[in-house]
Amino acid sequence: MTRSYVWWQTGVIYQVYPWSFQDSNDDGIGDLPGILSRLDYLQSLGIDAIWLSPIFPSPMADFGYDISDYVAIDPRFGTLVDFDRLLDAAHQRGIKMLLDLVPNHTSDEHPWFLAARSSREHPQRDWYIWRDPAPDGGPPNNWDSYFGGPAWTFDPATGQYYLHLFDPKQPDLNWRNPKVCAAMLDVMRFWLNRGVDGFRVDVIWMLIKDAQLRDNPVNPDWKPGDPPWLRQIKLYNEDQPEVHDVIRAMRAVIDAYPDRAFIGEIYLPITKLVHYYGPNLDEVHMPFNFQLLLMQGWDARQTREAVDAYEAALPEGGWPNWVLGNHDRPRIASRVGLAQARVAQMLLLTLRGTPTCYYGDEIGMRDTPITQEQVKDPQGIRSPGYSRDPVRTPMQWDAGPNAGFSANTPWLPLATDYAARNVHRQDVDPISELTLFRRLIVLRRSISALTIGDYHSLDIANPAIFAYLRTDHDQRVLIVLNFSATTHELDLSTIGATGEALCSTHLDRSGTVDLAKLAMRADEGLIIHLIRASG
Ligand code: NOJ
Repeated sequence: MTRSYVWWQTGVIYQVYPWSFQDSNDDGIGDLPGILSRLDYLQSLGIDAIWLSPIFPSPMADFGYDISDYVAIDPRFGTLVDFDRLLDAAHQRGIKMLLDLVPNHTSDEHPWFLAARSSREHPQRDWYIWRDPAPDGGPPNNWDSYFGGPAWTFDPATGQYYLHLFDPKQPDLNWRNPKVCAAMLDVMRFWLNRGVDGFRVDVIWMLIKDAQLRDNPVNPDWKPGDPPWLRQIKLYNEDQPEVHDVIRAMRAVIDAYPDRAFIGEIYLPITKLVHYYGPNLDEVHMPFNFQLLLMQGWDARQTREAVDAYEAALPEGGWPNWVLGNHDRPRIASRVGLAQARVAQMLLLTLRGTPTCYYGDEIGMRDTPITQEQVKDPQGIRSPGYSRDPVRTPMQWDAGPNAGFSANTPWLPLATDYAARNVHRQDVDPISELTLFRRLIVLRRSISALTIGDYHSLDIANPAIFAYLRTDHDQRVLIVLNFSATTHELDLSTIGATGEALCSTHLDRSGTVDLAKLAMRADEGLIIHLIRASG
């Protein structure tokens, strides 16, 4: 039986961090016309959809994740006209556009919060989560903010605390209030009516909190120096049963429009994560799967276990996805080194399920050290050592001033290696990271076993190697990844006699390979088309 697939299943998603992609008006900050001017580049990558981190008016206490108007564009990034132009131009090139929906909290400068804060009696007071102080005058419960410090801030004018799971300038909305839900569904409709192709929804698993706001247990394994967000076990402020109802309400809005995607940002163990597909596949289309991003260390066995466990846990009909980088976590090339980052790209782009790539990873951008004085990220300010600025530095376009990102000093420092590591240079280099990225996407698109085929991991005695098959009808593709910096000769003759090398991470190999004596070089990944023995 031939199944049909929708674009967000067969496509590749590319995250653009608008602050850092391309500046068009020389203020040192990226913007929408800047992204428009780089659409040819995005198209040349072969990606299918762009996910834009928030572009809405914001005091920028959390770089756009603190929204003061959900239905407009921040002037730093442009206007609604610029937005429509960008959307239109992307669509003309066959590129979809996803927006970042941030429904858990607003800015403290959003009119809703200003109204709620104005008095205890205001009808919108209950749009946020207010509580009287504890008997000792302290916060109503022990919840920590993810950025460090308590999750409650006292409002002297009205004598109560408000809840903020992130920065004090990001008060949490009260999703138990149906008016909040209705207002946010209207926000979704506003952008869907404008033609956006869907949303990535920020911290969707946190929307509902325990009705009694009970204290979280303290994590017994936490020690000073560990990330602040791990200090408590988040029993009562995330992953509450009622959250699934609001997600279903959002999904109903998505389903009222043809062909839209609904992706949830959810950091949970796989067994819990998969519940967000919904019992009838009626919640998010894809709960982001962050396993590759969170893995401590980088080795073949652990990666295989992660992939196999995920494949096994997926509900019937639930479509998989993989994320290799985002604006919150260290970049892949810094985590595993440049050579293994190529292997990681091959993994991402040959696994079963939708890949999400982070801007700049395609040229091997690395985290840029930023001194504590230069830190802009609220997490880095509140929890020194945990700044996310290093992964958000400007895109490295060329060797010219400011890497071609801006005519002015960029808002965050540029990587010092930008003259050597940039798009312009890698574009014409037959063995660059960029060339590999494009090649992998071409293969993924042109070989149905890679686009939609099944996945089976292989038992390989060698602990440095992770190998798997992707199959569709009689098409079989073998992927062999060497996670080590040493060479290994493998005997894979049980899988077949010979195959045709389609792509090596070193970009220097083609032709027939003998599977009984497969020589894998250091840090090499290989995609092999298996040729069936005749007869
Ligand atoms: C998750 C986002 O990815 C992160 O950048 C942000 O700080 C928090 N949610 C709060 O919105």
